[in-house]
Amino acid sequence: MISFVGAGPGAPDLITLRGRDRLAAADVIVWASSLVPEALLRHARPDTEVHDSAAMTLEDVTGVYEANADARVVRLHSGDPSVYGAIQEQIDWCIANDRDFEVVPGVSSLAAAAAAVQRELTIPTVSQSVVLTRLAGRTKASMPERESVAAFAAHRATMAVFLSAARPGDLQDELLAGYPPETPAAIVVRASWPDERVVRTTVAELRVDLAATKARTTVLVLVGDALADLPAERSHLYSPNYSHKFRKARMA
Ligand SMILES: C[S@@+](CC[C@H](N)C(=O)[O-])C[C@H]1O[C@@H](n2cnc3c(N)ncnc32)[C@H](O)[C@@H]1O
Repeated sequence: MISFVGAGPGAPDLITLRGRDRLAAADVIVWASSLVPEALLRHARPDTEVHDSAAMTLEDVTGVYEANADARVVRLHSGDPSVYGAIQEQIDWCIANDRDFEVVPGVSSLAAAAAAVQRELTIPTVSQSVVLTRLAGRTKASMPERESVAAFAAHRATMAVFLSAARPGDLQDELLAGYPPETPAAIVVRASWPDERVVRTTVAELRVDLAATKARTTVLVLVGDALADLPAERSHLYSPNYSHKFRKARMA
């Protein structure tokens, strides 16, 4: 069995119980040292065979899977594997090679970054949508044209920008295509790691503030009015005037 396990955003206690159990039972682990802190490996047995995928190709990784046909293999991905996890090509390999596999979800860096800034990302009347996206990078051919940051910025929804911290100027320019300059933004570096940093800023100041962090990887940029330090309007769900399946309205 090959288990694609979400390691969570970095803190070793932000992996799921199921993910921790898979690590503890693993005979072989393939993990990305560039994104997953070594502390996560403490959940594994000391005699587990460990491969660092940082310098491996897909063929190297599937070569490990081939060489361990009867083993319990864990492929440890940062955050949740469904977001920029590059698991689909591995799932396709498992199907083509008739290998049993499972996906164990993880806590995405999106959730860890929201926790770090202590804001809900979906505030009634402000934003009810979160766009997870990135700048087109070196692999820009894989980015559908209609999905540019500028195109999404026009909606002014809450946005979480992954994989883009190395290009603060381009990011700011694309955001300004839709968000007013004073729109709040937060730069979250290594969310949940011991050296987590949060820089609160605006779209107008993002270029300077993001460059000043000197962080290029493991950075998530959150943007949108939901980040403004303002009291939110009450939700309908917990309003005494609002009836639903589990509670009748208490006031006229
Ligand atoms: C290859 S993607 C993987 C995303 C991951 N699957 C997830 O759910 O968070 C790597 C990018 O995720 C973001 N990221 C991952 N871990 C992070 C963390 N602890 N703090 C901030 N950003 C993080 C960064 O934008 C980084 O460039």
